[in-house]
Amino acid sequence: MDDLVVVGADKAGLGRASRLLRAGGVCAFPTETVYGLGANAFVPSAIAEIYRLKNRPVWNPLIVHTVDAGMARSLARAWPDVAVMLAERFWPGPLSLVVERADRVPDAVSAGTGTVALRVPAHPVAQALLRECGLPLAAPSANRSEQLSPTSAEHVLRGLPDVPLVVDGGPCRWGIESTVVDVTCTPPRLLRPGALPLRTLKEVVGVIDCPGEPSQGGAVRSPGSARRHYAPMAKVVLVDDFDASRLRGLRQPSGVLTYQVPDSALTDWAEHIEILPDDPTGYAADLYAALHRLDDRGMSTVAVLAPPRHEDWMAVRDRLHRASANPTSAPVV
Ligand code: TXA
Ligand code: MG
Repeated sequence: MDDLVVVGADKAGLGRASRLLRAGGVCAFPTETVYGLGANAFVPSAIAEIYRLKNRPVWNPLIVHTVDAGMARSLARAWPDVAVMLAERFWPGPLSLVVERADRVPDAVSAGTGTVALRVPAHPVAQALLRECGLPLAAPSANRSEQLSPTSAEHVLRGLPDVPLVVDGGPCRWGIESTVVDVTCTPPRLLRPGALPLRTLKEVVGVIDCPGEPSQGGAVRSPGSARRHYAPMAKVVLVDDFDASRLRGLRQPSGVLTYQVPDSALTDWAEHIEILPDDPTGYAADLYAALHRLDDRGMSTVAVLAPPRHEDWMAVRDRLHRASANPTSAPVV
């Protein structure tokens, strides 16, 4: 059955994925955050194939996934104390550390930054694949550039119909990407809020430098933090409340994404309503899947109730602001 593009996370599926990766091919696999599109981090042609499949701009560097902190360390020129602390506390898990890159990491992975982002994923299938292939895997989220990240094998296939192989590990637990922290500077700097909450990070590192929200023109430090990103096909409109006058001008059919019980006027107005949990972790876990569902139903517009301006909602707010950014706005790099 070698023609199937989606394989199970069993011995046969992992064996096939591992052989493909060792031969310089690319393969999508689950992590606890979102699905990644992986390739041998040491093979420039494999890295080039990731960029081609994703239509990713060459200036946007990739996260390298390793089986453990030891292998991650071997890809860094320097490993500051704060990296030791963070790796000990949060790996395996949804945290990516940006460090100075060792010479043997190809420049294409770093996109000319001189640094490399490293992460030890916790998902048992990612761990099994990394162990089986014995390689560091460069793996961005397995979606076309700027579009929604995939939290299931089906999302990967839909977003990347040309993907050679997907290992199906079921839905991702966190549903939102890893937190990216630059540890080449003091204090460390938050480059992308993500699954690992800021408050948890602060418990370990104390002070951390944070850019403002993209909606407020906050400084953007991560090359991939183009303002528009994580966007569904539908136009996303962030609203502070579902006021009738605000909704009136929106293009139909319109959907709603909320974390509150909708009133009857909203239910009558909307073509489809997605109600997510009212806690940031539960909300994040289903956010991309809900946006995928709204796209499946052919919504032109999605009115999204803006979550609270609270630090715990930072990663969700970041993704929603980027999803709602104007497609014509130039990326901030
Ligand atoms: O959860 C995740 O992080 C997922 C899974 C697959 O691990 N991966 C992921 O990768 O979200 P990607 O490529 O979609 O996003 C990586 C982000 C981008 O914003 C990129 O610019 C930033 O990390 N990044 C990667 N390497 C970097 C570097 N050397 N310096 C600064 N930012 C970097
Ligand atoms: Mg991505």
